[in-house]
Amino acid sequence: MRPTDLTQHGKDTERSRDNRPADGVTVHAIRASRKREEQGQDPSGRVESRPALWAALRELEAGRSLGEVVGSSGLAWPTLERAWREAMQRQHLIRQHLQSRRGLTSLLRYPERGPWGQSSYAGNCNGYLIVDLIDYFKPQSVFDPMEGSGTTGEVCFDLKADYVGCDLRSGFDLLSSLLPDRQFDLIFWHPPYWPGFRYSDHPNDFSKARNVTDFLERLQVGFQRLADRFTEQGHLVILIGDGRKNGVFYPIHNAIIQWELLPLQTILIKAGDHERRAQHFRYGPSPFIPTLHEYVLIFKGRDT
Ligand SMILES: C[S@@+](CC[C@H](N)C(=O)[O-])C[C@H]1O[C@@H](n2cnc3c(N)ncnc32)[C@H](O)[C@@H]1O
Repeated sequence: MRPTDLTQHGKDTERSRDNRPADGVTVHAIRASRKREEQGQDPSGRVESRPALWAALRELEAGRSLGEVVGSSGLAWPTLERAWREAMQRQHLIRQHLQSRRGLTSLLRYPERGPWGQSSYAGNCNGYLIVDLIDYFKPQSVFDPMEGSGTTGEVCFDLKADYVGCDLRSGFDLLSSLLPDRQFDLIFWHPPYWPGFRYSDHPNDFSKARNVTDFLERLQVGFQRLADRFTEQGHLVILIGDGRKNGVFYPIHNAIIQWELLPLQTILIKAGDHERRAQHFRYGPSPFIPTLHEYVLIFKGRDT
C-alpha cells in the first residue's frame, strides 16, 4: 500500500465510523499481519516496542500527520501505517461488538476471541471480555498483574484507559515484587490455571505450584496484595477456572470466594474458547464431563 498522509487516514476513519462495510475488516487480517510481525517480516526489519507504537498512534489521533509522527517517533513509515490501519480495524470490531450484543449478562459467550494479545500464548484471554468489562465499569485506569501476551493492555489502548501491566515473563513477581504505588479503577487478574500449562521454572510462578494447596496459597497471597490496589469505587476482577486432576475435582473459584477477602459483587460464567478441545480432555483415569466454562469473579472494595 502506498504511504498516505494522516489527512487521508482521517478520512478513512470517518468513513469507517459511519458506513464502512465489514468486509476486509476481519480479525484474520489483523492476525495475519501480527503473525508477519512476529516472524520478523516487518518491511522495516525493526521490532518496535508497544509503548513507542502506542505513543505514536496517540499523536496521529491528536491530528499530526503520518510524516510528522514518523519523524518525531523514529518509527518506520510502513510500521506506523500498518499499526494505524489495525487500530482502525479494532475500533470497528469494538463498535460492532457493542452494537450487536444486548448488554452484559451473567452468561458470557464470545464466538471470536478478537485480535487482542496473542492467540498462540497459552491461556490467552478473550479480548471481548476486557472490552465488555471496560465498557461496563468505565474505569479510567486498569492494572493487569499477569498480563501474559498483553490482551488487557491492547484493549485499554483501544478504549483509552490508562494501563499498567506486568508479568513474571517481564520480571514482575506478584508474590514478591513492589506493586505500583497507586490505585486503579479496575484490576483484571488472570492467573495460570491449575493444573495447567507451566509458564516458567521461576520458583514463584503460579503454574509451578506443587499441588492444589500450594497453588491456593499463592493465589491467596496474590489476592491479599492486590486487595488494596483499587480505588473506592473500583473493582478486582479474577478470571479463573476450576481444576481436575487424577479424577479429583478442585473448585478453585469456590475457595477464592470462601476466603472473603473482599465483598463479592457478582459471578459471571464464561463459556470456554476451547470447546472442541475440551471435549477430548481426559480429566483423570477415565473420561468425565468436560468443563466448558470458567468464572469471572467480580469483587468490590469494602466500603463501596
Ligand atoms: C493465564 S496467563 C495470562 C494470559 C493473559 N491474560 C493473556 O491474555 O495473554 C497467566 C500469566 O501469569 C504469569 N505468572 C505466573 N506466575 C506469576 C507471578 N508470580 N507473578 C506474575 N505473573 C505470573 C504467567 O507468566 C502467565 O503469563
